[in-house]
Amino acid sequence: MKMNNFLNELLADLNQMLMLTYQVHWYMRGKGFLVYHPMLDSYIEEYQDDIDEVAENLIMLGGAPFSTLEEMAKNTKLEITAGDYGVTIEAQLEKLLAGLKYFQAKCQEGMELAEEENLVHIVDLCSDMLASTNKHIWMLNAELGKAPNA
Ligand SMILES: [Fe+2]
Repeated sequence: MKMNNFLNELLADLNQMLMLTYQVHWYMRGKGFLVYHPMLDSYIEEYQDDIDEVAENLIMLGGAPFSTLEEMAKNTKLEITAGDYGVTIEAQLEKLLAGLKYFQAKCQEGMELAEEENLVHIVDLCSDMLASTNKHIWMLNAELGKAPNA
């Protein structure tokens, strides 16, 4: 039951990460757009796949995944503000980085919980999402001139 609740929270967080990534993808203006805009397509695809994967795993555990925007918004703790064309690309990437760090902690929490409950496939799922998130954090930090785990 604990895992089912967690997976629903994770689903809400993934939806918020998807929205945040879309926002950065849509609202960026300035030098670097031609690189970052298409780069974020792969992030978006990744979150779309993960959303389905988490929901389907929750169903297999007997759970009921959130399926309305209202439920998603109510159950994520990652807060994002409205898009703004005036925000520099660097600040947009910082915004995304903050979301990724939040999500990184969530993936770690999921791995620990899944290990406790002996749900090996959920450990794998969270571990894959964590590995990818770590890589995104490293790359965005490098782009912003910072150390991998800054
Ligand atoms: Fe697009």
